[in-house]
Amino acid sequence: KLETKTTAKGVEFNEDGTEATVTIEGDDTMKFNLKEIKVKEGMKVTLTLVHTGQMDIEVMGHNWVLLNQGVDIMDFGGDAASAADSDYIPSDRLDDIIVHTDLIGGGESTTITFDAPAKGEYDFICSFPGHVALMKGKFIVE
Ligand code: CO
Repeated sequence: KLETKTTAKGVEFNEDGTEATVTIEGDDTMKFNLKEIKVKEGMKVTLTLVHTGQMDIEVMGHNWVLLNQGVDIMDFGGDAASAADSDYIPSDRLDDIIVHTDLIGGGESTTITFDAPAKGEYDFICSFPGHVALMKGKFIVE
């Protein structure tokens, strides 16, 4: 049995410290349950976004988008809002995105796996129209 170590709400590290498992929730009140996610440099990160609400994807869609450093989240959110055809991932701003999940609605969940970026602090958001102001947090690589 592989022991896991709980480090902070929503985050677990495996025994040898090479992998982080993150679970973050979004709800019907347009909120993430985590404001901060901390992992270590070099870790493989498996992140699951759970939509704990019941509202439809069309009115309360959530995704988890990790942005490169220096990207203005409100500016990005503005561009994302007009990218309905690509689930609010603007095709002309892919260079600003490190990784993102699919867009989901109430009762759904989605998982991605990625390598933690270099040490530093990064912003994460939900890019659904109007959500960035409330659905945001810091992804910190130590
Ligand atoms: Co959202």
